[in-house]
Amino acid sequence: MQEISEYFRRTGLKIGFVPTMGFLHEGHVSLIIEARDNCDIVVVSIFVNPVQFAPNEDLDRYPRDFLRDYHICNKCKVDYIFYPDAKDIYPDDYKTFININDISDRLEGKYRPGHFTGVATIVLKLFNIVKPHISYFGQKDAQQAIIVKKFTEDLNVDTEIKICETIREETGLAKSSRNSYLTQEEKEQASILYKSLLLGKNMILSEDVDDSKQVRKAMTNLIESNAPKCKLEYIAITDNKELKKIDDLKIYKGEILISLAAYFGKTRLIDNILFTK
Ligand code: PAJ
Repeated sequence: MQEISEYFRRTGLKIGFVPTMGFLHEGHVSLIIEARDNCDIVVVSIFVNPVQFAPNEDLDRYPRDFLRDYHICNKCKVDYIFYPDAKDIYPDDYKTFININDISDRLEGKYRPGHFTGVATIVLKLFNIVKPHISYFGQKDAQQAIIVKKFTEDLNVDTEIKICETIREETGLAKSSRNSYLTQEEKEQASILYKSLLLGKNMILSEDVDDSKQVRKAMTNLIESNAPKCKLEYIAITDNKELKKIDDLKIYKGEILISLAAYFGKTRLIDNILFTK
């Protein structure tokens, strides 16, 4: 892969890269289309990265279907699929991991300790292997996007990071490989998550609320009264750089990120909404 990328770089062609864990859906496809529209060579990686899963998480049952992904990539005119073996990425003597201070311990990091060390490590390795000019990530994973931007800047990684909007079902439910775990009933109830994010955004923009607690309470009520199958893990109202909590909404100006995580049965879903006040 490095040799192929080096060849295209030397011939002056622009390489666009979409890292994924496979089981591709319209969210992934939107990133691929963006890369296809703006780059000469499009590389998609498919690798279910073991080091970003905790021992109690869904690494073993994470959905995998290479043939299906291959056909989707083909249809989208992807030039190369990088599909490595875990043994080649993490040989037995593997030692190096990246840690991003503070930001990786907040929100998702609080509930999934070590997750972003795993994400940052694989993404940097993939950048070094694929050598992309531009790399595409989804706003769906807001904290991941912030962390990738941060380590790329801090470590002078020579790739431009583009963040693309979240693709949703008609009901508002964010597309996710993990939606395949949901029953029909859970799926219907899960659409309340995005409605609660819209409610939170509208409350903040209407400037009727001073305190983010009120917003989180109204969102929680909406979710609890419409989705009995839902176990809410957190709702956080933060800035979109350091992910620090915003308590006093009256004085805050700038980008606001409302993010949440919730369980439906064993399935953990995340979603967020980003806007400017
Ligand atoms: P994965 O969950 O497969 O997602 C791959 C990329 O698709 C990520 O950038 C993610 O934010 C984006 N994506 C997922 N759902 C989306 C949606 N509904 N709309 C728009 N974009 C969406 O994220 C990972 O894999 C991994 O952590 C990875 C970066 C590959 C490292 O292992």
